[in-house]
Amino acid sequence: MRVSNVSLSYGGEPVLEGASLKVGSGQFVSLVGPSGSGKSSLLRVAMGLQKPFAGSVDLELPKSDIGILFQDDALLPWRTARQNVSLGLRFRGMAKQQALQKADEWLAKLGLEGFEDRYPRHLSGGQRKRVALAQVLALEPKLLLMDEPFASLDAIVRTKVIQDVVQLVEREKIAVLLVTHDLEEAISLSDVVYLLSQGPRARISNEYKISIPRPRDLVRARLHPSYAPLLEKLWNDLSDEVQGNGNGHVAKGPIYMAAE
Ligand SMILES: Nc1ncnc2c1ncn2[C@@H]1O[C@H](COP(=O)(O)OP(=O)(O)OP(=O)(O)O)[C@@H](O)[C@H]1O
Ligand SMILES: [Mg+2]
Repeated sequence: MRVSNVSLSYGGEPVLEGASLKVGSGQFVSLVGPSGSGKSSLLRVAMGLQKPFAGSVDLELPKSDIGILFQDDALLPWRTARQNVSLGLRFRGMAKQQALQKADEWLAKLGLEGFEDRYPRHLSGGQRKRVALAQVLALEPKLLLMDEPFASLDAIVRTKVIQDVVQLVEREKIAVLLVTHDLEEAISLSDVVYLLSQGPRARISNEYKISIPRPRDLVRARLHPSYAPLLEKLWNDLSDEVQGNGNGHVAKGPIYMAAE
Protein backbone atom coordinates (compact mmCIF):
# COMPACT_ATOMS: atom_id res chain seq x y z
CA MET A 1 0.00 0.00 0.00
CA ARG A 2 1.28 3.43 -0.85
CA VAL A 3 -0.04 6.70 0.59
CA SER A 4 1.27 9.60 -1.47
CA ASN A 5 1.29 13.29 -0.55
CA VAL A 6 -2.01 13.16 1.29
CA SER A 7 -3.47 16.47 2.44
CA LEU A 8 -6.62 16.46 4.52
CA SER A 9 -8.78 19.13 6.08
CA TYR A 10 -11.91 18.99 8.20
CA GLY A 11 -12.89 22.44 7.01
CA GLY A 12 -10.22 24.70 8.53
CA GLU A 13 -6.46 24.58 8.31
CA PRO A 14 -5.22 21.28 6.84
CA VAL A 15 -4.62 18.56 9.43
CA LEU A 16 -2.29 16.70 7.07
CA GLU A 17 -0.23 18.21 4.29
CA GLY A 18 1.78 16.05 1.95
CA ALA A 19 1.94 12.95 4.15
CA SER A 20 3.42 9.88 2.46
CA LEU A 21 4.18 6.38 3.63
CA LYS A 22 4.28 2.87 2.27
CA VAL A 23 3.73 -0.63 3.56
CA GLY A 24 5.51 -3.37 1.62
CA SER A 25 4.17 -6.88 1.29
CA GLY A 26 4.57 -8.74 4.59
CA GLN A 27 6.04 -5.64 6.23
CA PHE A 28 5.15 -4.44 9.74
CA VAL A 29 4.92 -0.66 9.76
CA SER A 30 4.02 1.61 12.68
CA LEU A 31 2.90 5.21 12.68
CA VAL A 32 3.68 7.29 15.77
CA GLY A 33 3.37 11.01 16.44
CA PRO A 34 2.09 13.64 18.86
CA SER A 35 -1.50 13.39 20.05
CA GLY A 36 -3.83 15.16 17.66
CA SER A 37 -1.23 15.25 14.88
CA GLY A 38 -3.43 13.26 12.50
CA LYS A 39 -2.43 9.59 12.87
CA SER A 40 -5.99 8.30 12.97
CA SER A 41 -6.93 10.68 10.17
CA LEU A 42 -4.11 9.34 7.99
CA LEU A 43 -5.14 5.77 8.76
CA ARG A 44 -8.77 6.56 7.90
CA VAL A 45 -7.59 7.96 4.58
CA ALA A 46 -5.67 4.71 3.99
CA MET A 47 -8.82 2.76 4.87
CA GLY A 48 -10.82 4.75 2.36
CA LEU A 49 -13.07 6.16 5.12
CA GLN A 50 -11.89 9.74 4.67
CA LYS A 51 -11.30 11.57 1.44
CA PRO A 52 -8.16 13.74 1.18
CA PHE A 53 -8.31 16.99 -0.82
CA ALA A 54 -4.95 16.16 -2.36
CA GLY A 55 -2.81 13.06 -2.75
CA SER A 56 -3.71 9.45 -3.29
CA VAL A 57 -3.80 5.98 -1.80
CA ASP A 58 -2.67 3.09 -3.95
CA LEU A 59 -3.77 -0.12 -2.28
CA GLU A 60 -2.04 -2.50 -4.70
CA LEU A 61 -4.42 -5.23 -3.52
CA PRO A 62 -8.20 -5.79 -3.50
CA LYS A 63 -10.22 -4.16 -0.72
CA SER A 64 -11.37 -7.60 0.41
CA ASP A 65 -7.74 -8.39 1.36
CA ILE A 66 -7.71 -5.63 3.98
CA GLY A 67 -8.53 -6.24 7.63
CA ILE A 68 -9.35 -3.37 9.97
CA LEU A 69 -9.11 -3.26 13.75
CA PHE A 70 -10.05 -0.21 15.82
CA GLN A 71 -9.48 0.50 19.48
CA ASP A 72 -13.04 -0.48 20.39
CA ASP A 73 -13.92 -3.95 19.25
CA ALA A 74 -17.12 -4.20 17.29
CA LEU A 75 -18.40 -7.53 18.62
CA LEU A 76 -22.15 -8.08 18.55
CA PRO A 77 -23.24 -8.52 22.19
CA TRP A 78 -26.07 -10.91 21.32
CA ARG A 79 -23.80 -13.33 19.47
CA THR A 80 -21.33 -15.80 20.94
CA ALA A 81 -17.62 -15.62 20.22
CA ARG A 82 -18.01 -18.34 17.59
CA GLN A 83 -20.96 -16.59 15.93
CA ASN A 84 -19.15 -13.26 15.95
CA VAL A 85 -16.12 -14.74 14.22
CA SER A 86 -18.16 -16.72 11.70
CA LEU A 87 -20.26 -13.72 10.69
CA GLY A 88 -17.70 -12.20 8.31
CA LEU A 89 -17.11 -15.60 6.72
CA ARG A 90 -20.87 -16.04 6.21
CA PHE A 91 -21.02 -12.57 4.59
CA ARG A 92 -18.38 -13.80 2.17
CA GLY A 93 -20.63 -16.69 1.23
CA MET A 94 -19.10 -19.49 3.26
CA ALA A 95 -21.51 -22.32 4.25
CA LYS A 96 -22.66 -22.13 7.88
CA GLN A 97 -21.03 -25.30 9.18
CA GLN A 98 -17.73 -24.52 7.52
CA ALA A 99 -17.80 -20.93 8.83
CA LEU A 100 -18.45 -22.13 12.38
CA GLN A 101 -15.64 -24.65 12.14
CA LYS A 102 -13.26 -22.04 10.80
CA ALA A 103 -14.31 -19.68 13.59
CA ASP A 104 -13.41 -22.36 16.15
CA GLU A 105 -10.03 -22.88 14.51
CA TRP A 106 -9.20 -19.17 14.71
CA LEU A 107 -10.43 -18.87 18.27
CA ALA A 108 -8.16 -21.78 19.17
CA LYS A 109 -5.20 -20.13 17.41
CA LEU A 110 -5.77 -17.12 19.62
CA GLY A 111 -5.92 -19.18 22.78
CA LEU A 112 -9.70 -19.17 23.18
CA GLU A 113 -10.46 -22.85 23.00
CA GLY A 114 -13.38 -23.52 25.37
CA PHE A 115 -14.68 -19.94 25.10
CA GLU A 116 -16.50 -20.39 21.77
CA ASP A 117 -19.99 -20.26 23.29
CA ARG A 118 -19.42 -17.26 25.53
CA TYR A 119 -21.09 -13.95 24.85
CA PRO A 120 -18.85 -10.84 24.76
CA ARG A 121 -20.12 -9.64 28.18
CA HIS A 122 -18.84 -12.89 29.70
CA LEU A 123 -15.32 -12.39 28.37
CA SER A 124 -12.48 -10.27 29.75
CA GLY A 125 -11.17 -7.27 27.81
CA GLY A 126 -8.18 -9.27 26.57
CA GLN A 127 -10.39 -12.18 25.50
CA ARG A 128 -12.75 -9.84 23.65
CA LYS A 129 -9.78 -8.33 21.86
CA ARG A 130 -8.71 -11.84 20.82
CA VAL A 131 -12.20 -12.56 19.48
CA ALA A 132 -12.09 -9.31 17.51
CA LEU A 133 -8.67 -10.34 16.15
CA ALA A 134 -9.94 -13.81 15.25
CA GLN A 135 -12.84 -12.13 13.45
CA VAL A 136 -10.45 -10.09 11.31
CA LEU A 137 -7.78 -12.76 10.79
CA ALA A 138 -10.33 -15.44 9.82
CA LEU A 139 -10.94 -13.43 6.65
CA GLU A 140 -7.27 -13.96 5.82
CA PRO A 141 -6.30 -10.36 5.13
CA LYS A 142 -3.03 -9.56 3.35
CA LEU A 143 -2.95 -6.14 4.97
CA LEU A 144 -4.04 -5.32 8.49
CA LEU A 145 -4.79 -1.70 9.44
CA MET A 146 -4.98 -1.05 13.18
CA ASP A 147 -5.62 2.10 15.21
CA GLU A 148 -4.39 1.66 18.80
CA PRO A 149 -6.10 -1.72 19.05
CA PHE A 150 -4.39 -2.74 22.28
CA ALA A 151 -4.68 0.54 24.18
CA SER A 152 -7.43 -0.65 26.51
CA LEU A 153 -5.53 -3.74 27.71
CA ASP A 154 -3.39 -3.93 30.83
CA ALA A 155 0.36 -4.39 30.39
CA ILE A 156 0.61 -8.17 30.80
CA VAL A 157 -2.43 -9.07 28.69
CA ARG A 158 -1.33 -6.53 26.14
CA THR A 159 2.12 -8.11 25.79
CA LYS A 160 0.60 -11.57 25.42
CA VAL A 161 -1.98 -10.52 22.83
CA ILE A 162 0.61 -8.56 20.86
CA GLN A 163 3.05 -11.48 20.93
CA ASP A 164 0.32 -13.70 19.46
CA VAL A 165 -0.40 -11.13 16.79
CA VAL A 166 3.28 -10.90 15.86
CA GLN A 167 3.54 -14.66 15.55
CA LEU A 168 0.43 -14.83 13.39
CA VAL A 169 1.34 -11.98 11.06
CA GLU A 170 4.89 -13.31 10.68
CA ARG A 171 3.60 -16.81 9.92
CA GLU A 172 0.81 -15.72 7.58
CA LYS A 173 3.02 -12.97 6.05
CA ILE A 174 0.42 -10.29 6.68
CA ALA A 175 1.45 -6.67 6.12
CA VAL A 176 0.51 -4.35 8.97
CA LEU A 177 0.06 -0.63 9.46
CA LEU A 178 -0.28 0.07 13.17
CA VAL A 179 -1.06 3.42 14.75
CA THR A 180 0.30 3.51 18.29
CA HIS A 181 1.25 5.92 21.06
CA ASP A 182 3.75 3.45 22.39
CA LEU A 183 7.25 3.97 20.99
CA GLU A 184 8.60 0.78 22.59
CA GLU A 185 5.81 -1.23 21.04
CA ALA A 186 6.43 0.42 17.67
CA ILE A 187 10.14 -0.43 17.70
CA SER A 188 9.85 -3.98 19.00
CA LEU A 189 7.14 -4.89 16.46
CA SER A 190 8.05 -3.05 13.30
CA ASP A 191 10.28 -3.18 10.27
CA VAL A 192 9.68 0.52 9.71
CA VAL A 193 8.43 3.27 12.04
CA TYR A 194 7.12 6.56 10.65
CA LEU A 195 6.98 9.69 12.78
CA LEU A 196 4.20 12.13 11.98
CA SER A 197 5.11 15.74 12.74
CA GLN A 198 3.15 18.00 15.06
CA GLY A 199 0.01 19.26 13.32
CA PRO A 200 -1.61 21.20 11.81
CA ARG A 201 -0.21 20.52 8.33
CA ALA A 202 1.41 17.36 9.67
CA ARG A 203 3.57 15.23 7.44
CA ILE A 204 5.94 12.35 7.92
CA SER A 205 9.05 13.92 9.44
CA ASN A 206 11.17 10.79 9.87
CA GLU A 207 11.36 7.15 8.89
CA TYR A 208 13.24 4.59 11.01
CA LYS A 209 14.28 1.18 9.67
CA ILE A 210 14.45 -1.50 12.32
CA SER A 211 16.54 -4.55 11.67
CA ILE A 212 15.98 -6.63 14.78
CA PRO A 213 15.84 -10.22 13.45
CA ARG A 214 12.58 -12.19 13.09
CA PRO A 215 10.82 -14.14 14.38
CA ARG A 216 10.52 -11.48 17.06
CA ASP A 217 10.06 -12.11 20.70
CA LEU A 218 8.66 -8.90 22.17
CA VAL A 219 10.65 -9.07 25.37
CA ARG A 220 13.91 -10.24 23.75
CA ALA A 221 13.61 -7.59 21.01
CA ARG A 222 14.13 -5.00 23.73
CA LEU A 223 17.50 -6.53 24.59
CA HIS A 224 18.78 -6.14 21.04
CA PRO A 225 21.74 -3.69 20.90
CA SER A 226 19.99 -1.42 18.40
CA TYR A 227 16.87 -1.09 20.54
CA ALA A 228 17.93 1.42 23.22
CA PRO A 229 19.67 3.91 20.87
CA LEU A 230 16.70 3.77 18.52
CA LEU A 231 14.24 4.35 21.35
CA GLU A 232 16.27 7.33 22.54
CA LYS A 233 16.41 8.78 19.04
CA LEU A 234 12.69 8.29 18.46
CA TRP A 235 11.84 9.74 21.87
CA ASN A 236 14.03 12.82 21.24
CA ASP A 237 12.55 13.33 17.79
CA LEU A 238 9.00 13.00 19.14
CA SER A 239 9.77 15.43 21.99
CA ASP A 240 11.17 17.90 19.45
CA GLU A 241 7.96 17.60 17.44
CA VAL A 242 5.81 18.21 20.51
CA GLN A 243 7.93 21.27 21.43
CA GLY A 244 7.75 22.55 17.87
CA ASN A 245 11.48 22.06 17.12
CA GLY A 246 11.03 19.00 14.96
CA ASN A 247 11.86 18.28 11.37
CA GLY A 248 8.41 19.57 10.49
CA HIS A 249 8.34 20.30 6.83
CA VAL A 250 11.87 19.28 5.92
CA ALA A 251 11.63 15.50 5.82
CA LYS A 252 14.98 13.70 5.88
CA GLY A 253 15.93 10.35 4.42
CA PRO A 254 15.41 7.15 6.41
CA ILE A 255 17.50 6.49 9.51
CA TYR A 256 19.15 3.08 9.52
CA MET A 257 20.14 1.38 12.74
CA ALA A 258 22.76 -1.34 12.52
CA ALA A 259 21.67 -4.93 12.93
CA GLU A 260 23.39 -7.21 15.49
N1 LIG B 1 -14.18 14.46 12.34
C1 LIG B 1 -13.40 15.50 12.66
N2 LIG B 1 -13.84 16.76 12.49
C2 LIG B 1 -13.03 17.82 12.77
N3 LIG B 1 -11.78 17.71 13.24
C3 LIG B 1 -11.29 16.47 13.43
C4 LIG B 1 -12.08 15.29 13.15
N4 LIG B 1 -11.32 14.22 13.42
C5 LIG B 1 -10.14 14.68 13.87
N5 LIG B 1 -10.12 16.04 13.86
C6 LIG B 1 -8.98 16.89 14.23
O1 LIG B 1 -7.89 16.53 13.41
C7 LIG B 1 -6.67 16.50 14.15
C8 LIG B 1 -6.06 15.12 14.03
O2 LIG B 1 -6.89 14.18 14.69
P1 LIG B 1 -6.53 12.63 14.75
O3 LIG B 1 -7.62 11.96 15.47
O4 LIG B 1 -6.21 12.17 13.37
O5 LIG B 1 -5.20 12.69 15.62
P2 LIG B 1 -4.35 11.50 16.27
O6 LIG B 1 -2.93 11.74 15.89
O7 LIG B 1 -4.94 10.18 15.92
O8 LIG B 1 -4.53 11.81 17.82
P3 LIG B 1 -4.50 10.78 19.06
O9 LIG B 1 -3.06 10.39 19.22
O10 LIG B 1 -4.94 11.64 20.21
O11 LIG B 1 -5.40 9.65 18.75
C9 LIG B 1 -7.04 16.92 15.56
O12 LIG B 1 -6.76 18.28 15.70
C10 LIG B 1 -8.51 16.64 15.65
O13 LIG B 1 -9.11 17.52 16.54
MG1 LIG C 1 -5.87 8.64 17.06
